[in-house]
Amino acid sequence: MITGIGLDIVEMSRIRRLDIKSPKFRARILTDYEQTEYDQLTETRKIEFLAGRFAAKEAYSKAKGTGIGSECSFQDIEVRKDDKGKPTIYFRGTETGLVSITHSKEFAAAQVLLQTT
Ligand SMILES: CC(C)(COP(=O)(O)OP(=O)(O)OC[C@H]1O[C@@H](n2cnc3c(N)ncnc32)[C@H](O)[C@@H]1OP(=O)(O)O)[C@@H](O)C(=O)NCCC(=O)NCCS
Repeated sequence: MITGIGLDIVEMSRIRRLDIKSPKFRARILTDYEQTEYDQLTETRKIEFLAGRFAAKEAYSKAKGTGIGSECSFQDIEVRKDDKGKPTIYFRGTETGLVSITHSKEFAAAQVLLQTT
């Protein structure tokens, strides 16, 4: 049964500006695991990656119904990819949702679906 859906879109220029301004922004959004992945990317891919994770986390918080806050922080949510590149979303270490991420030159967007078996 589907229990939640969430969708989010972000402007790449906004994420680029925040990321250039201070490393604190990505430290707030990305988990340690995600920051290790980010560090290995080219400059262009870094912004796509960060924007995609930001959108995925906001989309997850909408699917959950809490928004981002004390019940569900950016650090509580992690996106991990399998060996083919397919992402899965984890909440506090537990696999918890289906996620799809996309980016173009100007935007990144993500959709999250929560379901019970
Ligand atoms: C829910 C959240 C993710 C909304 O994000 P947003 O970027 O402000 O707004 P969006 O345009 O993406 O989404 C707005 C829609 O989310 C939906 N929404 C709001 N609260 C929601 C909730 N608790 N659950 C599900 N959906 C929710 C609403 O439908 C809203 O549209 P509406 O007011 O027209 O009905 C919110 O928790 C948030 O603003 N988080 C930002 C946290 C933050 O720290 N950002 C860092 C910036 S540096």
